[in-house]
Amino acid sequence: MLRAVRSSTPVPDAVQRRVVVDVLRRLEDAQGWQVIGQRPRPWPIVGGMQQEEIWDVDAAKRYDAPGTGMFAPEVLGPTVDRLAELAGAGKALEFAIGTGRVAIPLAERGVSVTGIELSRPMIDQLRTKVDGATIPVIVGDMTTAVAPGNYALVYLVYNTISNLLTQAEQVECFRNAARHLTSGGRFVIELWVPELRKLPPGQQATVWHSEPGYIGLDTYDVVRQHVVSHHFTFDESRQAQLFRTPHRYIWPAELDLMAQLAGFELEARHADWAGTDFTADSRSHVSVYHISQDH
Ligand SMILES: C[S@@+](CC[C@H](N)C(=O)[O-])C[C@H]1O[C@@H](n2cnc3c(N)ncnc32)[C@H](O)[C@@H]1O
Repeated sequence: MLRAVRSSTPVPDAVQRRVVVDVLRRLEDAQGWQVIGQRPRPWPIVGGMQQEEIWDVDAAKRYDAPGTGMFAPEVLGPTVDRLAELAGAGKALEFAIGTGRVAIPLAERGVSVTGIELSRPMIDQLRTKVDGATIPVIVGDMTTAVAPGNYALVYLVYNTISNLLTQAEQVECFRNAARHLTSGGRFVIELWVPELRKLPPGQQATVWHSEPGYIGLDTYDVVRQHVVSHHFTFDESRQAQLFRTPHRYIWPAELDLMAQLAGFELEARHADWAGTDFTADSRSHVSVYHISQDH
């Protein structure tokens, strides 16, 4: 689960900074690693970065991992099945289309797909795989950019609504989705559940994923409702690569209220694309909203 970024973010506080410095130090001590790249002056750098700076040429080139992780058939298959079912015979619009991880297989399924995307390098990477006639992409911000036409489905996956770092922008994103939809149209969001239950008093960081060669660590600022995801990638050597992305986390109930403000109501919420029940222990959700009748 990779979480993306955007910013005019306020700088997280010194306590959080100490947590990350401490974690990095412990990783270095315990594993003999040397963390390279953006070292612990991280907060001001992450906080000051614009979305375009994060999704740069380098990030775009490294994004695609055909057949593995979020590109694995067992992940993409159910995602595309569900989106194709929701689009029906109508057109689909992907907010933050990226390199086309989901849009390309969805278009191959016969659904007409258009995208909105802020990062030109990500679009360039998409264009190495598919042309503009097959999947048109509007360069712009998903809170304001307008794609021509009307759509049966707008979707925003892979936690990307959390890249918008203020509540106001997140609400605007819902409103922009609503502007693009035909009557009865749907907006689908895939988003992680904030791991606040894992934060005992005094602790600001959680390890949300750990596997050989990768550790995902989140630092929480519960006052600003921000998270910075730290993605550590490493091999047998003493060096690790660090990629960081700031987010504004959203509890499902707040997401539903944002939807309501934009004229949507919740139609379905599942723990994944295959339709598994959403429970208190679900780590993520796929939420389907439709324009409410009385709007
Ligand atoms: C984690 S990637 C997800 C890409 C794609 N949706 C996927 O599932 O693979 C996040 C993408 O969101 C884009 N993005 C972030 N904020 C955006 C915004 N406000 N408007 C449009 N695109 C945005 C980034 O440039 C990046 O391509």
